[in-house]
Amino acid sequence: MLIRRPDACKSSEITPEQHYVGRRKFLAAAGVLGIGAVAGFVPNACAQDGQDPQVLGKPYGLQKDDKPTPWTDVTTYNNFYEFGTGKGDPVENAKAFKPRPWTVMVDGLVAKPAQYQLEDFLKPLVVEDRIYRHRCVEAWSMVVPWRGIMLADVLKRAQPTSQAKFVELTTLYDPQRMPGQQRSVLAWPYVEGLRLDEAMHPLTMLATGVYGRDLPNQNGAPLHLIVPWKYGFKGVKSIVRIRLVDRQPKNSWNISNPSEYGFYSNVNPEVDHPRWTQAKERRIGEFFKRPTLMFNGYAEQVAAMYAGMDLRKNY
Ligand code: MTE
Repeated sequence: MLIRRPDACKSSEITPEQHYVGRRKFLAAAGVLGIGAVAGFVPNACAQDGQDPQVLGKPYGLQKDDKPTPWTDVTTYNNFYEFGTGKGDPVENAKAFKPRPWTVMVDGLVAKPAQYQLEDFLKPLVVEDRIYRHRCVEAWSMVVPWRGIMLADVLKRAQPTSQAKFVELTTLYDPQRMPGQQRSVLAWPYVEGLRLDEAMHPLTMLATGVYGRDLPNQNGAPLHLIVPWKYGFKGVKSIVRIRLVDRQPKNSWNISNPSEYGFYSNVNPEVDHPRWTQAKERRIGEFFKRPTLMFNGYAEQVAAMYAGMDLRKNY
C-alpha cells in the first residue's frame, strides 16, 4: 500500500488481457440483462461461457450501475502481504497454503471464551451470500459477492462482558506457511480492530467464501473480515483470534504509518490520503474514475454510529 501512488498503476498491469476479453462479454451481457440479473437473481452471464462462477446473493448498498467484479479480478488482484506485496503475488504464492485444519480463539472480555476447530466455529451459525461494494484505500474498488457469517453472531455466542468496548482480530503468524512474514514489511502478525458497535453491526461479516465457493487462499481463507463502509485494509485475512478488549486496539497499518492510516478508516471522499485524493476511485475493469461515496455508499446504515465525531481527526 505504500509502494506506489494509485495513479501510477497502468490498467494493463492490473488485469491480464484474457480477462479483459471475459469482462467485455460480461459487461455486454449485463447491459442486456439489467442490474437485477447481474445482482444475482439469475445465474450470471459469464457462467454460460465458463468464465466466472455464478453470482449468488442479495445486493447490499449497490448503486444502479454497480455490477459484480469478475471472479478472475476478485481472485487475482489482491493485497495480502503475507504472500508478497504485488497485487499478483498472493494468487501465486498462496497456492500451497492449507487453511484446514484451522483453529480460532475467541477470548478476552467475554463470559464464554473458547478455542474452536473451524467446523465447530461455523456449524451453528447462519451462512449468507451478500453482494457488497469493496473500496481499497489505494483508490480502487470492486463489487464482490461474498459468502459468510455475521461477526455479531460470533460475538453474541461468546457473550461480551460490560467492560468489552473493542474487538481485535489477528491473522495467523507462521512465517513458514506465510513467507511474506519473513520480511519486515509490516509488524507481524497483521492485526485490526473495530469498536464493539461496528463489530456488532449487521453489515459486518466474516467471509468464508466468494462467488458461492470457499474463499481462495489469496482472499484470506478461511476467515476474512468484511466491513463494507471502511477501506479494505480493515478487512484482516486468515483470522486465528478474535479478542474482546476495553481499549482501542493497535492496527497494523496505523502502527506502520500513523500519519497515513488511522483506526477508523471509514471511506470518506472528503478526507484525502496525504499522498492522493479519495474523492474518486477506479473500479477494477473500468476506464473512467467514478466518484467515491461517503461510507462507500452505506451512509444510511452506518452514519449514526459516528454522529458528533470529527471524521477528519478520526480518519
Ligand atoms: N490482511 C492481511 N492479513 N494481510 C494483508 O496484507 N491487506 C488488506 C486486507 N487484509 C491485508 C489483509 C488490504 S490493504 C486490502 S485492500 C484487503 O485485504 C484486500 O482484500 P481482497 O484481496 O480480498 O480484495
